[in-house]
Amino acid sequence: MEPVATPGADPQFPMRGVAQPTRDEALALPGLHISRHPIIAAKLTTLRDENTTPAEFYTLVRELGALLAYEATADLATEPAPIRTPLEPMVGQRLVGGVGVLPILRAGLGMAEGFRQALPEAQVWHLGLRRDERTLRPVQYYNQLARAANLQVCFVVDPMLATGGSGIDALDLLEAKGVRRLRYLALIAAPYGLVALRRAHPNTPIYVAAVDERLDERGYICPGLGDAGDRQFNTL
Ligand code: PRP
Ligand code: URA
Repeated sequence: MEPVATPGADPQFPMRGVAQPTRDEALALPGLHISRHPIIAAKLTTLRDENTTPAEFYTLVRELGALLAYEATADLATEPAPIRTPLEPMVGQRLVGGVGVLPILRAGLGMAEGFRQALPEAQVWHLGLRRDERTLRPVQYYNQLARAANLQVCFVVDPMLATGGSGIDALDLLEAKGVRRLRYLALIAAPYGLVALRRAHPNTPIYVAAVDERLDERGYICPGLGDAGDRQFNTL
């Protein structure tokens, strides 16, 4: 399960010859939530389509980020909130503590924007990770992690979970900062990345819109959608 290119392996094809778990094995992982929402499925199909323009793509990533945020926050804890309506007092609910969102740059930015449509008061942290295409290992180039003040939970968001290296590094960093309750959100996940993430972070709930078949020899998710960062920011 090591995504690093092995000595002698072709660095152009770092996944060549690497064993991958099947989709069925990934579907059996504990703590994996796969959306069944038909609107998410329909938007994801348009997102994958090679004819979708970068502008439409970015809009869809934001929308899917918001919809997945609703699903992944459905069980957050609330506490009684006494208020007065214009007619009379009542006891409503408010979230216990704050909620953090950590987009993995660049591609996570659109999802984080969507997440903020669902929860505008979320605290947004940023982490820049670039995947080295020869080794498939993430390289950190930016890190703006705030103090973890009274957060109920922090969500790592990234459209693509391929080998899992970027997601695992992001969760490792948050754990090292003392953030206890973590969740991971992606639009499309490969079985390889799901198994790796589950192994590295056995107790972190994972929310995805779809689980795809496999990684190709360059480490791209198939059928996937191509490069999520380049399609979002028109840098293909
Ligand atoms: C993509 C994607 C993830 C990562 C997934 O980012 O957005 O962060 O690859 O791959 P992994 O699971 O194998 O780590 P990329 O490195 O292409 O950077 P970008 O978002 O700036 O395009
Ligand atoms: N990053 C992407 O943007 N797409 C993939 O398929 C894999 C990693």
